[in-house]
Amino acid sequence: MTGSDFHQLRALLEWQVELGATEAIGEHPVNRYDALDVAPKVVAPASAPAPETHEGAADPVDAARAAAGAAGDLEALHAAMAAYEFCELKRGARNLVFSDGNREARLMIIGEAPGREEDVQGRPFVGRAGQLLDKMLAAIGLGRDASGKGNAVYITNILPWRPPQNREPKPDEIAMMMPFVARHVDLVDPEVIVPMGNISCQALLGRRGITRLRGAWTQALGRPALPMLHPAYLLRTPQAKREAWHDLLMLQAKLRGDG
Ligand code: URA
Repeated sequence: MTGSDFHQLRALLEWQVELGATEAIGEHPVNRYDALDVAPKVVAPASAPAPETHEGAADPVDAARAAAGAAGDLEALHAAMAAYEFCELKRGARNLVFSDGNREARLMIIGEAPGREEDVQGRPFVGRAGQLLDKMLAAIGLGRDASGKGNAVYITNILPWRPPQNREPKPDEIAMMMPFVARHVDLVDPEVIVPMGNISCQALLGRRGITRLRGAWTQALGRPALPMLHPAYLLRTPQAKREAWHDLLMLQAKLRGDG
């Protein structure tokens, strides 16, 4: 690389940072070494086995169903998800974000997917939206750190890996992770589920439109479910906190047995 290439590349990078690019992660992994033409390519002998790919292998949803169904407890489910190779998101993520909170909880919150902070820490809802979620829960006497079953909360997401640049999860990514979510719910066995945000409603209820779905009890995976506004939405739309408070009170009443 010449000195002028270096300065040109640097100026381009600075310009991208100026525009708001915060990470050098794309939709698909790129092997930059392939682009370099500096060394002769090592050609594999004709008899070498082809690298394993998933093309032609089992259907991703069937494979997820088999792996999730074989998991007898949460540790086994975690291990099964870590060993699952069909979801491309895994390759761009730092950590598998499995869950947080008390597994004895009567309430299970199911969010969408990890963001940047969750990806770094390997725990769901630890960024700004997560901090707001903790405040919302505390306002009705609940918490992920509570040891008593009555006020404990268990939290997970539809997707355990962060989508690049926090893009929307694709339908096939949701479909292949759903058997794991369903098994997760079976194993935790909560009395009540809160699908949090549109992606979670799409995955669990087959419907979007959280502003219409919220505020009314429905069923998800055979259990009572109360769709709620995502705290990230509340950060952008503070005037919607009024509806969120209404829903929190509905949730509290249900858990107290008078809702
Ligand atoms: N948003 C989610 O839906 N889940 C997280 O874990 C963090 C942000």
